[in-house]
Amino acid sequence: MKRSQLVVANWKLNGNLSFNEEFMGALNLGLSEVDIGEREIVICPPAIFLHQLNGLLTAEKVLLGGQDVSDETSGAFTGEISAAMYRELGCKYVLVGHSERRIRHSETPMQTAHKSRMALSAGVIPILCIGETSVERDQQRTKEVLSSQLEPVFEYLQEDISNIVIAYEPVWAIGTGVTATDDEAQEIHEWIRLHVASRDSLVASTIQIIYGGSVKASNADALLDLPDVDGILVGGASLIPDEFLKICLSGIHVERK
Ligand code: PGA
Repeated sequence: MKRSQLVVANWKLNGNLSFNEEFMGALNLGLSEVDIGEREIVICPPAIFLHQLNGLLTAEKVLLGGQDVSDETSGAFTGEISAAMYRELGCKYVLVGHSERRIRHSETPMQTAHKSRMALSAGVIPILCIGETSVERDQQRTKEVLSSQLEPVFEYLQEDISNIVIAYEPVWAIGTGVTATDDEAQEIHEWIRLHVASRDSLVASTIQIIYGGSVKASNADALLDLPDVDGILVGGASLIPDEFLKICLSGIHVERK
């Protein structure tokens, strides 16, 4: 059984009111007459734009997500955004543990576990981002690093891991123009799935594992075609409307409704 696919746009610290409106107009138009089947498209803008984007969604299967979530529910936590707030603004998903948060904000695996739990408790699906740096890769420590990022989350969430999405994002591929080869991506995704299977083989067969790192229209098709890749997480290319639309439609047999 092929799992349904996710195409996630991570806008990071980009966007403004007029860009957002034009972008959503182009995306809505481009998807308006196309059946994308079970595929979901998720836009993760800076949180301050969620309300605006929520009002601009018209295409079926285009959803919203957050870029980070607090590990607290409410209270004196300046600058934080809770999972319930994301939920109220229409988010189905939220990114957790993006490498830019792990590296720049020293986010630990245990914090990503708490954040994932907070998201799930509010009915938001965490997309847990994991990945090794180029140094760790050169030292052939990729699997050890991924394991150290996954295990605390698995331990903490227990059977609820069935409700998360995992994003494999090698840090060396993010924003560099260098993508993992298809073989590399498939090998790691398969390894992650086996790792999940060592806990629960049923969950391993259903959990969505998506790839991120310099995805563009020219490589999206091949990545989405890999047996253990269930979607893609797109940064830079998700800010170019035509390019992102092509990515959303990669590998889809376009049938006019
Ligand atoms: P990129 O970013 O597509 O620009 O490499 C991906 C990400 O950081 O999620």
